[in-house]
Amino acid sequence: MGKDLERVLLTEAQIQIRLAELAASIDQDYAERDPLLVGVLKGAVVVMADLTRHLHLPVEVDWMAVSSYGSGTKSSGVVRILKDLDRDITGRDVLVVEDIIDSGLTLSWLLTNLRSRGAATVEVCTLLRKPTAAKVDVDVRYVGFDIENEFVVGYGLDYAERFRNLRDVGTLASHVYTS
Ligand code: PRP
Repeated sequence: MGKDLERVLLTEAQIQIRLAELAASIDQDYAERDPLLVGVLKGAVVVMADLTRHLHLPVEVDWMAVSSYGSGTKSSGVVRILKDLDRDITGRDVLVVEDIIDSGLTLSWLLTNLRSRGAATVEVCTLLRKPTAAKVDVDVRYVGFDIENEFVVGYGLDYAERFRNLRDVGTLASHVYTS
């Protein structure tokens, strides 16, 4: 897969070091609590797997799958739940785990939805964020890396469902789009 990348933005080692730092902050912040980590499928699978294993706290994990309605552009902000949480989150300390925040519209909708269910707290941890692509302001407590507004794959992020299993994060070579 390496030949399909134009440029490596973040290596596996850089990602792991940063996730360990985020996990240390989470361990400290949630020390006296019982957090429920909510991953947003599918991209967050890889982040969740590594982040949770850097944690020393025992945590519960649950998953949601969401999809934007309508036009085919994913960032419409109107979201449909494809798979909901398995449990009630009333009174829970929820930490949403994302691979990337692009426009922020998915997350903004999700936070409103989770808070309306009576969670005690809802915070966000994302590996990547594109500040210049933001269409809505979302308060994100844990950010791995702020990156430029360019299309990236790897470490859970896909192009046409491929490249999620790349260990690094990078930009795609143009031959991938044209082949
Ligand atoms: C990605 C990512 C976020 C969302 C961010 O998911 O995992 O959920 O897009 O975009 P936004 O900030 O513009 O709303 P995607 O819809 O690509 O699904 P996937 O995780 O299954 O690849």
